[in-house]
Amino acid sequence: MKESGDVPVKDMKDHKDYASYFQSTYQPPSLKDAKKRGKEAVKILKDYDLEEDLKRIGVGKKFYIRTYGCQMNEHDTEVMAGIFTEMGYEPTTDVQEANVILLNTCAIRENAENKVFGELGHLKPLKLEKPDLLIGVCGCMSQEESVVTKILQTYDQVDMIFGTHNIHRLPQIIKEAYLSKEMVVEVWSKEGDIVENLPRVRKGNIQGWVNIMYGCDKFCTYCIVPYTRGKERSRRPEDIIEEVRHLARNGYQEVTLLGQNVNAYGKDFEDMEYGLGDLMDEMRKIDIPRVRFTTSHPRDFDDHLIEVLAKGGNLVEHIHLPVQHGNSEILKLMARKYTREHYMELVGKIKQAIPHAALTTDIIVGFPNETEEQFEETLSLVKEVQYDAAYTFIYSPREGTPAAKMIDNVPLEVKKERLQRLNATLNEISLSKNEAYIDSVVEVLVEGESKKNPDVLTGHTSSNKVVNFRGPKHLIGTIVKVHVTDAKTWTLRGNLLEETAGVIEG
Ligand code: 5AD
Ligand code: SF4
Repeated sequence: MKESGDVPVKDMKDHKDYASYFQSTYQPPSLKDAKKRGKEAVKILKDYDLEEDLKRIGVGKKFYIRTYGCQMNEHDTEVMAGIFTEMGYEPTTDVQEANVILLNTCAIRENAENKVFGELGHLKPLKLEKPDLLIGVCGCMSQEESVVTKILQTYDQVDMIFGTHNIHRLPQIIKEAYLSKEMVVEVWSKEGDIVENLPRVRKGNIQGWVNIMYGCDKFCTYCIVPYTRGKERSRRPEDIIEEVRHLARNGYQEVTLLGQNVNAYGKDFEDMEYGLGDLMDEMRKIDIPRVRFTTSHPRDFDDHLIEVLAKGGNLVEHIHLPVQHGNSEILKLMARKYTREHYMELVGKIKQAIPHAALTTDIIVGFPNETEEQFEETLSLVKEVQYDAAYTFIYSPREGTPAAKMIDNVPLEVKKERLQRLNATLNEISLSKNEAYIDSVVEVLVEGESKKNPDVLTGHTSSNKVVNFRGPKHLIGTIVKVHVTDAKTWTLRGNLLEETAGVIEG
């Protein structure tokens, strides 16, 4: 069969001069502009509302959103699903029957981007079959000028590109895409205001995500996030508390407070001294069984927060504390703003205050100039900390970041080999940590059926261990006690305690 790529979907896009396209029609995204941090205060808008004509635009139509990357994107997808619903659209899980398809993308590593370009290729025949179908690209990739240019030049099946600061403008963008023959591009390089009352369709009703802040000002040299997500700006505590209370009233069992660097929460408030520790202290008073937060930056993790977390209650015994590397020189090149010693001191304080805390982390191998000895310091740190689990990555240069200008002089083979050694060490530790649970009784928030076996239920402990066990489906959404009998590297297995099953069955 002939590659469908030859057929122009929108003839007006042929032979376009993209430079003038940007000048005349839209603002291109710019990582340089995104880096410039203004002093002006971020406004908080509470009057999001849809005009009547936009509320009917989706009646009889369906939307499909594919989400890549982190929980922040999952959160944004929930907001976009809410906006679609307000516009009259219905959700679908089948791309074939969708009238609008959005790819909510991730730019953190090159392979994340390649997946999206691959998916756009797969969608092309569908677009040719159904010319009225709208295909949109949003999320972090759309903040990159190089990505937008590439899509404009080679992916004419795309109808709209919009950025992470433009999500609340989805209705206007959709309307314009229906009317326009051109690709609609709306990407603000700088963050706008915080829009408070956006609609939201949450996935499930057991665990909820609550954004506490947006953006990141840390500028780690390898990372694109400060450019794609804008400057740090915190939601007001009263708005967060109200949202968590609302979830609690609706039966949610767990919330995760989200931000790229949650330990910087409140640093942008000009009218009060208020930090994550204060917010977590408020969370303890809310009647919801579990409160998590992610992601932490070791540099801003203060003693007050440790003190509050040590009070326990509904604050879980799990801290995700990305270290990135075990060698202080590499940490300096990464601009992490802490040394190995400082990190270990923090781990020591946390372990002392919260003895059962499970620690997890993120680690990058193969950063420019990483020597074998420096890599071995990552291995030794991992052994010293005894992480319960870790996400490990091969360094991926991101255009526009300072590290991308450093010579990437570690051969790929060496990077892969280091990654394997690191994972082997981490897996050994995870297994021994899990084995320590054998014969203990754990509390499990039952999240659903196991993907592999519908007779088995699955959930997490407060320390974030996955536990599988046999039990009746009506336990889904409740917290039960399980006696652990087996441990694997990633999961625990056990038996439901009759006592909890009995209590719940009433
Ligand atoms: N290459 C590899 N890993 C990266 N991360 C962020 N940027 C890069 C990059 N350029 C990793 C960090 C971060 C996690 C979310 O992704 O470990 O904590
Ligand atoms: Fe990226 Fe560093 Fe900000 Fe995390 S703290 S999002 S790694 S710049």
